[in-house]
Amino acid sequence: MSTTANDAPRTGASEDFAGQDWGSWPTYEAATLGFRDFWYPIAWAHQITSKPKPLTVAGEEVVLIRDGDEIRALHDRCPHRGVPLSLGRHEFPGTISCPYHGWTYDLTDGKLVAVVTDGPDSPICGKLSVRTYPVEVRLGLVWVYVGDTDDGVPPVEREIPRELLENDFSMGGRSDIREGNWRFAAENGFDEGHAKYLHNTALWRMFKVMPAWNKTRLVERDEWLIRVQDEVHWETKVPGLGTWTNKRWWRKMPLPDAPGKAADVNPVIKGLDLPGFVSIRLPGLLRVAYPHFIHYEWYVPVDAENVRYVQIMVRFETGRKAAAFAFTYLSAIRWLFHGQFTAQDAWMVDVMDAPPERLYRPDISITGWRRMCEARGLVVQKMATRPDGNPGMAVSNTPAIRPPVLTTVRRTGKGFRADRTEGADGAV
Ligand code: FES
Ligand SMILES: [Fe+2]
Repeated sequence: MSTTANDAPRTGASEDFAGQDWGSWPTYEAATLGFRDFWYPIAWAHQITSKPKPLTVAGEEVVLIRDGDEIRALHDRCPHRGVPLSLGRHEFPGTISCPYHGWTYDLTDGKLVAVVTDGPDSPICGKLSVRTYPVEVRLGLVWVYVGDTDDGVPPVEREIPRELLENDFSMGGRSDIREGNWRFAAENGFDEGHAKYLHNTALWRMFKVMPAWNKTRLVERDEWLIRVQDEVHWETKVPGLGTWTNKRWWRKMPLPDAPGKAADVNPVIKGLDLPGFVSIRLPGLLRVAYPHFIHYEWYVPVDAENVRYVQIMVRFETGRKAAAFAFTYLSAIRWLFHGQFTAQDAWMVDVMDAPPERLYRPDISITGWRRMCEARGLVVQKMATRPDGNPGMAVSNTPAIRPPVLTTVRRTGKGFRADRTEGADGAV
């Protein structure tokens, strides 16, 4: 365990944070579209069918299509005249055909394999490719690798928290595209200061007291940056103005300052030995651990103005307890937490406008996150480049480390379903 350099500004911090712009974090400032060389979750696997589905990730236009048991991802642009391939057809097995002139591409490597409007001996066949993306399915989500593959592709498990690879669990989740840049969403997620004030009207917190203010430091461990509370205060006495508190007679005093310190705690969560409830890691994943469940949220860049907000709630339970959780998720958590509570965050992410900005002491969480991004030598995703017909990239066949048993709660055309899956890749 090591504390970050951000621990330093404990007093007089507002003066240390007097900067108005993001000039101290030039890589982060440039990352409007996120970072390359990461896997991003961009869709629920069950939503991908043989009907091509267009999506945008990190400014790149991608078409997802199911090809038998596999899901393929290609750049969503026909090299002929630039028509989206997502408008095309699954004319022949294992291919996609552009709707305009019928140029037909192999789904595995993107190679042009037929041009039906130019006869069987079309000389352009085999001479070009549409770019393909490595695809994996984990946690019921489709993950696409955005980056260069010349030096190989890291396993998708690199992007998935260890506890989700090593344990059985039950989960529910939802994924929405929300307005605002992904960095505002990530900063909001790890933001120390806002929950006590913004969320004090949330139904999810109706019966739990939140502190009035804390003194916080940051700890970096196992890829995660963790918020640790050194002091927790339940009310603020403001000279000349009065007292402000989140305490109400109907609210229970809340949890201790770390999930593992609760009297009753799930053994998996206790085993994580987290010094605080909230952690963040690259390329934009928040973990909020409670004694009995963990909430994760991914901030996946869509474009400069939108973020894909993927939330899952996990309980490390199986059997009847897992089924009970699926019911609780559908009947309450999905609406109260993944709905109304995080909609308050979405509201702020949408209306926020920075820089310029003037930070205060709790913003140590934001500057710590920015500093972590800055220190990792990350590759910034540039504004969308014109497709260059570069050769197809191999689809990764990375095996799962350990097959999880999932109860995955999902939305269907007729409502919601909880599916139990025991699969090599956790796919649903
Ligand atoms: S634009 Fe795609 S085949 Fe002509
Ligand atoms: Fe929030």
